[in-house]
Amino acid sequence: MIGNRFLTILFVVILFHQANAQCGTNASKVGSTCYCNPGYYGPNDSNCQQCQSNTYSLQGVSNTGPSVTQFSACSYCQIGYYVTTPGTATALPGCLQCPAGSTTLNPLSQPGSISSCICFDPNGTALSSLSQACQCNIGFYGSPQTTQAGPSGCTPCPANFTSPIGTADQTGCTKQLDSSILKAFQQLIMILILF
Ligand SMILES: *[C@@H]1O[C@H](CO)[C@@H](O)[C@H](O)[C@H]1NC(C)=O
Ligand SMILES: *[C@@H]1O[C@H](CO)[C@@H](O)[C@H](O)[C@H]1NC(C)=O
Ligand SMILES: *[C@@H]1O[C@H](CO)[C@@H](O)[C@H](O)[C@H]1NC(C)=O
Ligand SMILES: *[C@@H]1O[C@H](CO)[C@@H](O)[C@H](O)[C@H]1NC(C)=O
Repeated sequence: MIGNRFLTILFVVILFHQANAQCGTNASKVGSTCYCNPGYYGPNDSNCQQCQSNTYSLQGVSNTGPSVTQFSACSYCQIGYYVTTPGTATALPGCLQCPAGSTTLNPLSQPGSISSCICFDPNGTALSSLSQACQCNIGFYGSPQTTQAGPSGCTPCPANFTSPIGTADQTGCTKQLDSSILKAFQQLIMILILF
Protein backbone atom coordinates (compact mmCIF):
# COMPACT_ATOMS: atom_id res chain seq x y z
CA MET A 1 0.00 0.00 0.00
CA ILE A 2 2.67 2.52 1.05
CA GLY A 3 4.69 1.56 -2.07
CA ASN A 4 1.66 2.25 -4.31
CA ARG A 5 1.01 5.63 -2.71
CA PHE A 6 4.67 6.57 -3.13
CA LEU A 7 4.55 5.57 -6.82
CA THR A 8 1.36 7.60 -7.34
CA ILE A 9 2.92 10.70 -5.76
CA LEU A 10 6.09 10.19 -7.78
CA PHE A 11 4.01 9.87 -10.96
CA VAL A 12 2.10 13.10 -10.21
CA VAL A 13 5.35 14.95 -9.43
CA ILE A 14 6.90 13.76 -12.72
CA LEU A 15 3.77 14.74 -14.69
CA PHE A 16 3.75 18.21 -13.06
CA HIS A 17 7.45 18.66 -13.74
CA GLN A 18 7.07 17.63 -17.39
CA ALA A 19 4.08 19.95 -17.92
CA ASN A 20 6.23 22.88 -16.79
CA ALA A 21 9.48 21.83 -18.38
CA GLN A 22 8.17 21.33 -21.90
CA CYS A 23 8.54 24.91 -23.13
CA GLY A 24 11.84 26.66 -23.93
CA THR A 25 13.25 29.66 -22.06
CA ASN A 26 11.15 32.81 -22.71
CA ALA A 27 8.16 30.62 -23.64
CA SER A 28 5.07 29.24 -21.93
CA LYS A 29 2.02 27.14 -22.69
CA VAL A 30 -1.29 28.32 -24.04
CA GLY A 31 -3.54 25.29 -23.77
CA SER A 32 -1.21 22.42 -24.70
CA THR A 33 1.05 24.38 -27.09
CA CYS A 34 4.25 26.25 -26.23
CA TYR A 35 4.54 29.78 -27.62
CA CYS A 36 7.05 32.56 -27.03
CA ASN A 37 5.97 34.73 -24.07
CA PRO A 38 4.10 37.98 -24.73
CA GLY A 39 6.70 40.60 -25.74
CA TYR A 40 8.93 37.92 -27.38
CA TYR A 41 9.04 36.35 -30.85
CA GLY A 42 10.79 33.41 -32.54
CA PRO A 43 10.72 30.53 -35.04
CA ASN A 44 9.91 28.10 -32.20
CA ASP A 45 9.61 28.14 -28.44
CA SER A 46 13.30 27.33 -27.92
CA ASN A 47 14.45 30.47 -29.75
CA CYS A 48 12.41 33.36 -28.34
CA GLN A 49 13.96 36.84 -28.39
CA GLN A 50 12.58 39.95 -26.74
CA CYS A 51 10.88 42.60 -28.90
CA GLN A 52 13.12 45.71 -29.21
CA SER A 53 12.59 49.47 -28.85
CA ASN A 54 9.64 49.26 -26.41
CA THR A 55 7.63 47.16 -28.87
CA TYR A 56 5.52 44.18 -27.86
CA SER A 57 3.98 40.99 -29.28
CA LEU A 58 0.87 39.02 -28.44
CA GLN A 59 1.41 35.36 -27.52
CA GLY A 60 0.31 32.74 -30.07
CA VAL A 61 0.78 31.90 -33.75
CA SER A 62 1.49 35.59 -34.45
CA ASN A 63 4.68 35.57 -32.33
CA THR A 64 5.87 31.94 -32.67
CA GLY A 65 6.47 30.06 -35.93
CA PRO A 66 8.86 29.56 -38.87
CA SER A 67 7.51 32.55 -40.84
CA VAL A 68 7.37 34.92 -37.83
CA THR A 69 9.69 37.93 -38.04
CA GLN A 70 10.51 40.64 -35.53
CA PHE A 71 8.39 43.04 -37.61
CA SER A 72 5.38 40.75 -38.03
CA ALA A 73 5.33 39.82 -34.33
CA CYS A 74 6.38 43.02 -32.54
CA SER A 75 3.76 45.29 -34.10
CA TYR A 76 2.49 46.58 -30.75
CA CYS A 77 3.91 49.10 -28.28
CA GLN A 78 4.34 47.99 -24.65
CA ILE A 79 1.79 49.13 -22.09
CA GLY A 80 2.79 52.67 -21.06
CA TYR A 81 3.78 53.63 -24.63
CA TYR A 82 1.61 55.06 -27.42
CA VAL A 83 2.10 54.46 -31.17
CA THR A 84 3.53 57.30 -33.26
CA THR A 85 4.03 55.34 -36.52
CA PRO A 86 2.56 51.90 -37.26
CA GLY A 87 4.76 48.85 -37.78
CA THR A 88 5.27 47.51 -41.31
CA ALA A 89 6.70 44.31 -42.85
CA THR A 90 10.15 45.90 -42.61
CA ALA A 91 9.90 48.31 -39.66
CA LEU A 92 8.90 48.28 -36.01
CA PRO A 93 6.22 50.70 -34.84
CA GLY A 94 7.38 53.94 -33.24
CA CYS A 95 6.62 53.89 -29.51
CA LEU A 96 6.69 56.95 -27.24
CA GLN A 97 6.47 56.70 -23.46
CA CYS A 98 3.42 58.21 -21.73
CA PRO A 99 4.16 61.23 -19.49
CA ALA A 100 5.06 60.56 -15.83
CA GLY A 101 2.05 59.46 -13.81
CA SER A 102 0.14 58.09 -16.82
CA THR A 103 -0.12 54.89 -18.87
CA THR A 104 -1.97 53.19 -21.71
CA LEU A 105 -4.45 50.50 -20.69
CA ASN A 106 -3.44 47.87 -23.32
CA PRO A 107 -0.60 47.24 -25.76
CA LEU A 108 -1.55 49.37 -28.81
CA SER A 109 -0.76 48.88 -32.51
CA GLN A 110 -2.82 51.70 -34.07
CA PRO A 111 -1.11 55.09 -34.36
CA GLY A 112 -2.45 57.52 -31.79
CA SER A 113 -1.43 60.46 -29.70
CA ILE A 114 -0.63 61.41 -26.15
CA SER A 115 -4.39 61.23 -25.48
CA SER A 116 -4.02 57.41 -25.53
CA CYS A 117 -2.36 57.89 -22.10
CA ILE A 118 -4.50 58.06 -18.97
CA CYS A 119 -3.38 59.70 -15.72
CA PHE A 120 -3.13 57.31 -12.76
CA ASP A 121 -4.93 59.92 -10.65
CA PRO A 122 -8.72 59.67 -11.15
CA ASN A 123 -9.00 63.40 -10.32
CA GLY A 124 -6.25 64.29 -12.79
CA THR A 125 -6.69 65.98 -16.16
CA ALA A 126 -7.09 64.25 -19.52
CA LEU A 127 -3.90 64.39 -21.60
CA SER A 128 -3.77 66.07 -25.01
CA SER A 129 -1.36 68.04 -27.15
CA LEU A 130 -2.39 71.09 -25.09
CA SER A 131 -2.09 69.38 -21.70
CA GLN A 132 0.92 67.08 -21.75
CA ALA A 133 1.40 66.54 -18.01
CA CYS A 134 -0.94 65.05 -15.41
CA GLN A 135 -2.31 67.82 -13.21
CA CYS A 136 -5.13 68.07 -10.69
CA ASN A 137 -8.42 68.82 -12.41
CA ILE A 138 -10.57 71.96 -12.11
CA GLY A 139 -11.94 72.23 -8.55
CA PHE A 140 -9.08 70.17 -7.01
CA TYR A 141 -5.68 70.99 -5.52
CA GLY A 142 -2.58 68.89 -4.78
CA SER A 143 -0.10 66.70 -6.68
CA PRO A 144 -1.55 63.91 -8.86
CA GLN A 145 -0.87 60.32 -7.78
CA THR A 146 2.17 58.93 -9.64
CA THR A 147 1.47 55.19 -9.22
CA GLN A 148 -1.35 53.05 -10.51
CA ALA A 149 -2.90 51.76 -7.28
CA GLY A 150 -2.49 54.65 -4.86
CA PRO A 151 -5.20 57.03 -3.62
CA SER A 152 -5.86 60.30 -5.42
CA GLY A 153 -3.33 63.05 -4.69
CA CYS A 154 -5.92 65.66 -5.69
CA THR A 155 -8.28 66.98 -3.00
CA PRO A 156 -11.53 68.80 -3.82
CA CYS A 157 -11.59 72.50 -2.91
CA PRO A 158 -13.88 73.35 0.05
CA ALA A 159 -17.60 73.74 -0.70
CA ASN A 160 -18.32 76.75 -2.97
CA PHE A 161 -14.62 77.14 -3.79
CA THR A 162 -13.05 76.25 -7.11
CA SER A 163 -9.59 76.21 -8.71
CA PRO A 164 -8.00 76.19 -12.15
CA ILE A 165 -6.28 73.07 -13.58
CA GLY A 166 -2.97 72.31 -11.90
CA THR A 167 -3.58 74.06 -8.58
CA ALA A 168 -1.00 72.73 -6.14
CA ASP A 169 -2.10 74.31 -2.86
CA GLN A 170 -5.43 74.89 -1.12
CA THR A 171 -4.71 78.65 -1.12
CA GLY A 172 -5.24 78.37 -4.89
CA CYS A 173 -8.93 77.60 -4.31
CA THR A 174 -11.02 80.77 -4.69
CA LYS A 175 -14.61 81.47 -3.72
CA GLN A 176 -17.01 80.58 -6.47
CA LEU A 177 -18.99 83.55 -7.76
CA ASP A 178 -22.44 83.23 -6.19
CA SER A 179 -25.12 83.12 -8.90
CA SER A 180 -27.40 85.49 -6.90
CA ILE A 181 -24.60 88.07 -6.63
CA LEU A 182 -24.00 87.66 -10.36
CA LYS A 183 -27.71 88.28 -11.06
CA ALA A 184 -27.77 91.43 -8.87
CA PHE A 185 -24.67 92.68 -10.70
CA GLN A 186 -26.35 92.15 -14.09
CA GLN A 187 -29.45 94.03 -12.88
CA LEU A 188 -27.27 96.91 -11.68
CA ILE A 189 -25.64 97.17 -15.10
CA MET A 190 -29.08 97.16 -16.80
CA ILE A 191 -30.19 100.02 -14.54
CA LEU A 192 -27.01 102.01 -15.33
CA ILE A 193 -27.58 101.49 -19.06
CA LEU A 194 -31.25 102.59 -18.84
CA PHE A 195 -30.44 105.83 -17.05
C1 LIG B 1 14.07 26.32 -33.74
O1 LIG B 1 14.47 27.30 -34.69
C2 LIG B 1 15.89 27.37 -34.90
C3 LIG B 1 16.19 28.54 -35.82
O2 LIG B 1 15.35 28.53 -36.94
C4 LIG B 1 16.37 26.01 -35.49
O3 LIG B 1 17.78 26.07 -35.65
C5 LIG B 1 16.00 24.90 -34.50
O4 LIG B 1 16.32 23.65 -35.05
C6 LIG B 1 14.52 24.94 -34.18
N1 LIG B 1 14.27 24.01 -33.09
C7 LIG B 1 13.21 23.21 -33.08
C8 LIG B 1 13.09 22.34 -31.88
O5 LIG B 1 12.39 23.17 -33.97
C1 LIG C 1 15.61 34.70 -23.76
O1 LIG C 1 15.51 36.10 -23.92
C2 LIG C 1 16.71 36.80 -23.68
C3 LIG C 1 16.36 38.29 -23.75
O2 LIG C 1 15.94 38.64 -25.04
C4 LIG C 1 17.76 36.38 -24.70
O3 LIG C 1 18.97 37.04 -24.44
C5 LIG C 1 17.96 34.88 -24.64
O4 LIG C 1 18.83 34.48 -25.67
C6 LIG C 1 16.62 34.15 -24.77
N1 LIG C 1 16.81 32.72 -24.55
C7 LIG C 1 16.61 31.82 -25.53
C8 LIG C 1 16.83 30.40 -25.14
O5 LIG C 1 16.22 32.11 -26.65
C1 LIG D 1 -11.79 61.78 -7.16
O1 LIG D 1 -11.16 60.52 -7.03
C2 LIG D 1 -11.80 59.64 -6.13
C3 LIG D 1 -10.98 58.37 -6.07
O2 LIG D 1 -9.75 58.59 -5.46
C4 LIG D 1 -13.19 59.35 -6.59
O3 LIG D 1 -13.86 58.51 -5.66
C5 LIG D 1 -13.97 60.65 -6.74
O4 LIG D 1 -15.21 60.36 -7.32
C6 LIG D 1 -13.21 61.62 -7.63
N1 LIG D 1 -13.92 62.88 -7.61
C7 LIG D 1 -14.36 63.46 -8.73
C8 LIG D 1 -15.13 64.75 -8.53
O5 LIG D 1 -14.15 63.04 -9.84
C1 LIG E 1 -22.68 77.25 -0.93
O1 LIG E 1 -23.49 78.10 -1.70
C2 LIG E 1 -24.88 77.81 -1.58
C3 LIG E 1 -25.64 78.68 -2.57
O2 LIG E 1 -25.18 80.01 -2.55
C4 LIG E 1 -25.32 78.00 -0.15
O3 LIG E 1 -26.70 77.68 -0.02
C5 LIG E 1 -24.50 77.11 0.76
O4 LIG E 1 -24.82 77.35 2.12
C6 LIG E 1 -23.01 77.36 0.55
N1 LIG E 1 -22.26 76.37 1.33
C7 LIG E 1 -21.20 76.70 2.07
C8 LIG E 1 -20.53 75.59 2.81
O5 LIG E 1 -20.82 77.86 2.16
